[in-house]
Amino acid sequence: MVSISVRPERYSFHMLEESREFVVNLTTEALVRQADEAGVRSGREVDKWKHLRLTPQKASRISTPLIAESPVNLECRVKQVIPLGSHTMFLAEVVAVDVDPGLLEKNGRLALERAGLVAYSHGEYYGLGALLGRYGYSVKKKRG
Ligand SMILES: Cc1cc2nc3c(=O)[nH]c(=O)nc-3n(C[C@H](O)[C@H](O)[C@H](O)COP(=O)(O)O)c2cc1C
Repeated sequence: MVSISVRPERYSFHMLEESREFVVNLTTEALVRQADEAGVRSGREVDKWKHLRLTPQKASRISTPLIAESPVNLECRVKQVIPLGSHTMFLAEVVAVDVDPGLLEKNGRLALERAGLVAYSHGEYYGLGALLGRYGYSVKKKRG
């Protein structure tokens, strides 16, 4: 499951309400400038696909297109719409995950560390930085 919270005054809002679908397109260092511009311009003024030179790609389980340039896309179907005041939360089921085949290793492992993902922290975009540990590493017994 995944949730997003969107202000009702956003142009995208009625599309979410009507289609009850959305895609989470993970953002990379190569895409961060376009992601920022997509986040400060409205679809009311500009066709963001054209303006940002992004390519719509058919999704596998929903009608909403994916952003082809993004290496990982989560296809989401809305299960609950929860008005929270300033924002409305769309709680959704991830019904498909599309992955750039270049990130899949021979054994099927997803090499997400090679995608160049970015993080958004307090108004600023960052690369992910150094690996700090692996799941469960804090309780694993040390060898020797
Ligand atoms: C990094 C970033 C995060 C944002 N997060 C949200 C958010 O969680 N909810 C929201 O309603 N708007 C958020 N915004 C603002 C919208 O992206 C912005 O109002 C945009 O113009 C909406 O586009 P639209 O009018 O085409 O829907 C965010 C903007 C940026 C740059």
